[in-house]
Amino acid sequence: MSVHSQVKRITTHTLREMKERGEKIAMLTSYDYSMAKIVDEAGVDVILVGDSASNVMAGHETTLPITLDQMIYHASSVVRAVKRALVVVDLPFGAYQGNSKEALTSSIRIMKESGAHAVKMEGGSEIRESVERILSAGIPVMAHLGLTPQSIYKFGTYTVRAKQNEEAERLLSDAKVLDEIGCFSLVLEKIPAALTEKVSKAVSMPTIGIGAGGKADGQVLVVHDLLGITNEFHPRFLRRYSDLYSEIKSAVGNYVSDVRKQDFPNESEQY
Ligand code: KIV
Repeated sequence: MSVHSQVKRITTHTLREMKERGEKIAMLTSYDYSMAKIVDEAGVDVILVGDSASNVMAGHETTLPITLDQMIYHASSVVRAVKRALVVVDLPFGAYQGNSKEALTSSIRIMKESGAHAVKMEGGSEIRESVERILSAGIPVMAHLGLTPQSIYKFGTYTVRAKQNEEAERLLSDAKVLDEIGCFSLVLEKIPAALTEKVSKAVSMPTIGIGAGGKADGQVLVVHDLLGITNEFHPRFLRRYSDLYSEIKSAVGNYVSDVRKQDFPNESEQY
């Protein structure tokens, strides 16, 4: 029996069962083979190849510049590493907003060329037609409401969304629509915890929160933030589980110093 066949893969069905059992879902981003291998082996249920790659991998200020080809490159590297987690890929800005045919074509490219298991897209009722078209092709869709970074120039700020009644009601109604048409999960980003609880109770699909409180059915973070590789980002919702920025800097500094003083390589490190 191969190693692959011994591992029980997480599916969209598994996530729904987890919600029904009240078991929390752990989701984390990854963008490359080596990181995805560690994240998968550590037991994360869903790996998101997020368009946050635009920020943490490419150094852009927003998620807008990353292209569909670049997302496919990141996604295929992740898929090659993963044995258990469900791999979800962000449809990048510009790859689905045009019309539903473009949205379907982009999703098919992601599924065919990367081998990922699902796509994620930002928006509510305004993208309903595209979501339905993608779903009708058999591609699972994860939705994303609240702070949707691809619309940053419309919002003008990364502050908490849906604090006022009107926006909260719209978000709840969008969530119900996305649930009814068959999205398998919903990311809720930076909204009040009480609204997350209300939405999570109102929909059958599992909700995954980021800066959305403890009542979502699961949580997601950007892996570079969790590991402390990014060191200039300090939102209230972020818990850092490591300080890899300092650790890597110190290790690299030690290497530089060893090379300069001709301590590396030593006798046992050469042929
Ligand atoms: O791109 C991303 O990493 C995301 C998460 C923050 C949910 O969309």
